[in-house]
Amino acid sequence: MEIKAYLNKQRSIVEAYLEEAIAKPVGDFAGHIETMRYSLFVGGKRVRPILCLAGAEAVSCGKCDIQEILPIAGAMECIHTYSLIHDDLPAMDDDDLRRGKPTNHTIYGEAAAILAGDGLLTYAFELLSNGSSQRDPAVTLQVIHLIAQAAGTFGMVGGQSLDMIYEGKQVAYETLKTIHKSKTGALITASVVGGGLAAGAAKEHQQALTSYGNNIGLAFQIIDDLLDVVSTTEELGKPVGSDEEADKVTYPSLFGIDQSKKMAEQAVADALESLAIFDHHADPLRGIASYIIERKY
Ligand code: IPE
Ligand code: IPE
Ligand code: MG
Ligand code: MG
Ligand code: MG
Repeated sequence: MEIKAYLNKQRSIVEAYLEEAIAKPVGDFAGHIETMRYSLFVGGKRVRPILCLAGAEAVSCGKCDIQEILPIAGAMECIHTYSLIHDDLPAMDDDDLRRGKPTNHTIYGEAAAILAGDGLLTYAFELLSNGSSQRDPAVTLQVIHLIAQAAGTFGMVGGQSLDMIYEGKQVAYETLKTIHKSKTGALITASVVGGGLAAGAAKEHQQALTSYGNNIGLAFQIIDDLLDVVSTTEELGKPVGSDEEADKVTYPSLFGIDQSKKMAEQAVADALESLAIFDHHADPLRGIASYIIERKY
């Protein structure tokens, strides 16, 4: 399958959905809504929502109704975008470029950027709990619980907290794995498993998707670490060298470039193996795993 064409098509679908789903910048809260919309629509690969749709496609053999999955996909992008806005704040990574444009706080100020993140996070749960779905409410509750866990203390937020605590410190490999698994892997895994669950995944499908998500999540952050060293700010759309400047613990800082690349490749190989129980309807998931290794930004 042509993964580039697939990703482009799915990205357009996700963006058209988000454009409709997010409030328009009018009325009393127009200023706040504009700050959310700025970061959401300024760019982004939309990997998490696309994974969500691909997880549902694999489980349902392409038979699920995409309209039922899009709110979950959109919610994952809102949570991810909030994590980026907060990640860039002066108190965290203090970066001034994101998705090729000035970061939220450099345009709107720190208070507005914090609130833009808060608004996006909360809106994600509004989308997830929207009562118009035809799905069994028990499954919806399971999806919401899964995503809340992945976004919170034992997922992205906890990982971000460790990422900050260990700045400038010596870190054991096990700790680095925990940081990457939680700060990045958790939302990636919840995206693909959330989509699968909503499409009716049985236990063995859920396990396969979880293993796939954990492995591509790890590979995704290893490649993110590598790109911070080997890419250019222009190509990446965010400042390279940011990790070294902040003395972050990363795969290249612990293992060097070549070994890190090999570790990412191994994680992708493990992810592909996890998909053995699925037929060709999991080809998008297979393509995305390979894309993660080859991506240039
Ligand atoms: C960047 O995520 C932050 C990480 C978790 C590595 P992406 O590389 O998916 O960023 P966008 O959404 O495409 O901008
Ligand atoms: C961020 O990791 C992971 C998030 C939860 C946002 P990084 O700090 O490495 O992400 P970038 O490189 O700024 O996108
Ligand atoms: Mg960070
Ligand atoms: Mg950062
Ligand atoms: Mg990074």
